[in-house]
Amino acid sequence: PLVSPKEMFEKAYAGGYAVGAFNVNNMEIVQGIIAAGNQERSPLILQVSAGARKYAGENYIMKLMEAAMQDTDLPVVLHLDHGQNFEICEMVIKAGFTSVMVDGSHLPFEENIALTKRVVECAHAQGVFVEAELGRLAGVEEDVSSEHSIYTDPDQAVEFVERSGCDSLAIAIGTSHGAYKFKGEAKLDFDRLEKIGKLMPGYPLVLHGSSSVPQEFVEMANKYGGTVGSARGVPEDMLRRAASMAVCKINIDTDIRLAMTAVIRKHFAEHPDHFDPRQYLTPARDAVRDMVAHKIRNVLGCSGKA
Ligand code: G3H
Ligand code: 13P
Ligand code: ZN
Ligand code: NA
Repeated sequence: PLVSPKEMFEKAYAGGYAVGAFNVNNMEIVQGIIAAGNQERSPLILQVSAGARKYAGENYIMKLMEAAMQDTDLPVVLHLDHGQNFEICEMVIKAGFTSVMVDGSHLPFEENIALTKRVVECAHAQGVFVEAELGRLAGVEEDVSSEHSIYTDPDQAVEFVERSGCDSLAIAIGTSHGAYKFKGEAKLDFDRLEKIGKLMPGYPLVLHGSSSVPQEFVEMANKYGGTVGSARGVPEDMLRRAASMAVCKINIDTDIRLAMTAVIRKHFAEHPDHFDPRQYLTPARDAVRDMVAHKIRNVLGCSGKA
């Protein structure tokens, strides 16, 4: 059933693990994630970006979720990813989302608080959970691009949470969106994460930009005609470490895109005569399932926590 992340995060915090938040855009992605969750008996967060709503359409997204809920008895959160303004948050709350992210990270501190607070008032009236963001991730975040990340200030984080009333907070400690996260050595500011965690005991933190960009898929994509180059993500051991700390939600989108694309490229190369979408979407969907199951079991630690 669709649930609030509240209890899910309380358990994750206490248990020293994190729940994966996977971006969904179409039927095969939803099915792949649900299959992995069923296999691993894991709680799930399915998140929908503005781009996903535009691509699939609000109605299709809601009907896919309805179908998914008939396919599983797991606790599943339906979450808005990177809500850019009050109106989009209000719209999905009405549509039945159980959680929204209001992303005011590009705004000045006071404006971010004001926007978040307004969304919190609307969401809480409907029992909907609110994630906010303080600090800026490097790279492209929806329409807002920032060349350099601005890491979350621990004292500001405390003030932000107190004044805005948000239920969880996405922080910037060195991750970034997309497939090209690190030029040199991969590095996350764990001291900062620890400090923020200590200042707000029991409070769930969120890590965006947490794809690990598995090299097997990078190599597969490149081998079969892709030009993904030297894409690099967050090493799995760093995600394991973050999951063991106050981080309760870990966002993954790029790895889904990459897995599907690599497998489809391989399929096309090996079967140039195929033109039935079911022929290449079946292995693509299986790849999403296996990749998500691996994360749940070996990285996030949420196997058997449903
Ligand atoms: O953070 C962004 C997510 O990966 C969603 O990407 O806006 O292209 O759907 P999108
Ligand atoms: P990745 O690009 O690392 O998958 O991050 C996704 C994300 O943060 C969605 O909000
Ligand atoms: Zn994000
Ligand atoms: Na955790």
